[in-house]
Amino acid sequence: MTNKVRGFPKDFIWGCATSAYQIEGSPLADGAGPSIWHRFTHTPNRVTDGDTGDIACDHYRRYTSDVDLMRELGMQAYRFSVAWGRVLPEGTGRVNPAGLAFYERLVDRLLDKGIQPMATLYHWDLPAALDDRGGWLNRDIAHWFAEYSEVVFRKLGDRVKYWVTLNEPWVVTDGGYLHGVLAPGHRSAFEAPLASHNLMRAHGASVQAYRALNLKSPIGLVVNLEPKYPASQEAADLNAAKRAEAYMNRQYLQPAIHGSYPEELQDVFGEAWPKLPSQDFDLIKQKLDFLGVNYYTRQVTKNDPSVWPVRASGVKQKQHTHTETGWEVFAQGLTDTLLWVKNNYGNPPLYITENGAAFFDPPQVEGDTLEDPLRVDYLKKHLRAVHAAIQQGADVRGYFVWSLLDNLEWAFGFSKRFGIVHVNFETLARTPKASARLYSKIIETNGAALFD
Ligand code: FCB
Repeated sequence: MTNKVRGFPKDFIWGCATSAYQIEGSPLADGAGPSIWHRFTHTPNRVTDGDTGDIACDHYRRYTSDVDLMRELGMQAYRFSVAWGRVLPEGTGRVNPAGLAFYERLVDRLLDKGIQPMATLYHWDLPAALDDRGGWLNRDIAHWFAEYSEVVFRKLGDRVKYWVTLNEPWVVTDGGYLHGVLAPGHRSAFEAPLASHNLMRAHGASVQAYRALNLKSPIGLVVNLEPKYPASQEAADLNAAKRAEAYMNRQYLQPAIHGSYPEELQDVFGEAWPKLPSQDFDLIKQKLDFLGVNYYTRQVTKNDPSVWPVRASGVKQKQHTHTETGWEVFAQGLTDTLLWVKNNYGNPPLYITENGAAFFDPPQVEGDTLEDPLRVDYLKKHLRAVHAAIQQGADVRGYFVWSLLDNLEWAFGFSKRFGIVHVNFETLARTPKASARLYSKIIETNGAALFD
């Protein structure tokens, strides 16, 4: 039941999210195989200040106190990712029991503290051994991913409450295969659609493996969605917004749910758009129990032939606040996005699997609490936007703030802080920020504190 004026649905789930490479540290411990992110961060000039995930938040060794902290903050659920290379150091074949045992200890600790585990199987840290075999460009990866998924499902399937196959396939290909700013750092319009397609085939194969085991927890896919509002009503801008939306948002939802690709992709990729076997869509299109939506910002889109290959770019909205990653703060876009998914993809159960903001935090005085007013404001606005979407009929069942901890923000290294908990990267001390205290209150009142 939803309290029409203020509340969220009574079984709404409030949690926080992280990912393996960004927080764990000890990337090669206990027999783990290196990932493409280990390689990437250890390549000169790829990551700001040469930062690496060698230590990160040291969560691999501090997970017990981190779970205790989540408990103190009142978290009801925790979204983490499993590092493929800890479980299968070569990506396929030999299982590494010590790596799997880490996630088993984590899950048991969470359950012990009354926190529901949501496990993501792929949050960008492909085993380097598989990259050597072509990575996401090799069609066999659908089988490799299903094999790895099955190992994890068999071990943790009785305890994990929600499963996610992939995190943000768009970022994997746009950053990793088209523009080369994320691992593995390729730059090819010919590779990108193939990598995307194989990601979606791997997603399908993983869901099939899950269904074959008859496990009961829901399984879904996480996409990052950014609404594209045309900068004007001119045909050129309207078309640019359509191309951008097809490229970023529909490229993954449409095959997963409707079994086809948006027409505009042919126009975006031109001769680089591949011929794809039509039977692949039988694998890609699997029944999903929910969709995870990661939302950070919007784009006001204009036609821009200089931007390869989508020929569209954003118009900066100077009247609005921007975060440290340069993203416009625009909460209405979250309501619009949730309603767009509801209307175009059959009103699926939804979780906001990531939402948050990087801001400079003021320097901390010893013993002081840490005030982060911009993040507090961001959180309030976006949670109200979620509430508005629920009032308008979107089936949103939970929210996971990104992120529990300041962490390694990929190619930005530690220079961008997204945590509601501050991490001192010298001492590794954790200090909850004002946003964490606010979030605790929101959780405790099931959202009513947002309207005080
Ligand atoms: C998302 C990623 C997450 C984090 C946030 C800021 O694209 O899934 O790991 O980097 O952005």
